[in-house]
Amino acid sequence: MLQKISKNITWVGKTDWNLKKFHGHEFSTFKGTTYNSYLIRDEKTALIDTVWKPYAKEFVENLKNEIDIDEIDYIIINHAEIDHSGALPELMELIPDKPIYCTQNCISSLKGHYHKDWNFVQVETGQKLSLGKKELIFIEAMMLHWPDSMFCYLTGNNILFSSDAFGQHYASECLFNDLVDKCELSIEAIKYYANILTPFSRLVAQKIDELIGLKLPLDMICPSHGIIWRDEPMQIVNKYLEWAGDYQEEQILILYDTMWNGTGLLAESIKDGLKEELDESCAVKILNTSTIDKSEIITEVFKSKMVLFGSPTVNSGILSSMASIFELIKGLRFKGKKAAAFGCFGWSGESIEILNSLIKEAGFELIDNGYSCLWEPDDMTLKQVRKYAKKYIPGGG
Ligand code: FEO
Repeated sequence: MLQKISKNITWVGKTDWNLKKFHGHEFSTFKGTTYNSYLIRDEKTALIDTVWKPYAKEFVENLKNEIDIDEIDYIIINHAEIDHSGALPELMELIPDKPIYCTQNCISSLKGHYHKDWNFVQVETGQKLSLGKKELIFIEAMMLHWPDSMFCYLTGNNILFSSDAFGQHYASECLFNDLVDKCELSIEAIKYYANILTPFSRLVAQKIDELIGLKLPLDMICPSHGIIWRDEPMQIVNKYLEWAGDYQEEQILILYDTMWNGTGLLAESIKDGLKEELDESCAVKILNTSTIDKSEIITEVFKSKMVLFGSPTVNSGILSSMASIFELIKGLRFKGKKAAAFGCFGWSGESIEILNSLIKEAGFELIDNGYSCLWEPDDMTLKQVRKYAKKYIPGGG
């Protein structure tokens, strides 16, 4: 349902309650998502972004109910990814000559996606577009999270349209942060950052510094997904600054996969050893990489100061779920985290060496050569592992 977010701005996006996977099957979206698009009316009318392609017809029909499409003067595309530009072809069929304001990289991306030579107007940071009484100020946001990404700021309403930054995959008919469950919102916001923005943390911090330096009054942040930050919008900006600073909590994560539960028993004993050594302010979590959702695992890695990776040796390698999670972890380029490996083996025992190598390749600090166990651990071995685990804590053991 279209909703006004202020007298002159209507949210014309799509709430996708049923979406459970995003970016193919890479990112779980248990709470659905929204594709936010905004229609700004002044003496001129501007449309910011569209929605994902499957909802293109619905989007254009809704727009037609809201406005005579010919009355749209400007289209602003903050980001070319399909979830925001997917309805452009449908829209441009009706208004083929209307100008599309976006970055140079966005023009390349849109041409690459849709193979159309629309009326593109390239914009750069600091350029302004007058809508009458108010104006849009463009702020390039390269690699947050694509080369084409851009923010724009609406004077008068004091709104930052922030593209994917500050977003969440969180469907709700309540558009504003003061109207939704704060815990759910917070969980989805950190999951979004951990899985999408982590590799670009240095740029996130720089961009926020740049925005703060502009000294623009801020009444709302309108991202491209999820809830609009209306109540204390700086709260999410401050969270982003915290997350961009090699974030970690008092948490140790044990990630493992297991065939006949030998490595699973090691994981449990490591957890017990750590809990005996740590004070209760430090959380210890155990997740099985073959059963727990990978985006949830990434969020827990993001929050952890240390990750202990366990896999038995199989076919001279490691279990596939562990190899797969490392592929994600490597790409996200976490910083400032410690790690070590453990696992059972029957004869050749390569898993520890492979895990150690993956740990280093992923940019973690390898704090130990790893703990391996021949065949199934017996009670004596499990006691030994509990003791061994204490070595992972500075001053422990
Ligand atoms: Fe929501 Fe980068 O697209």
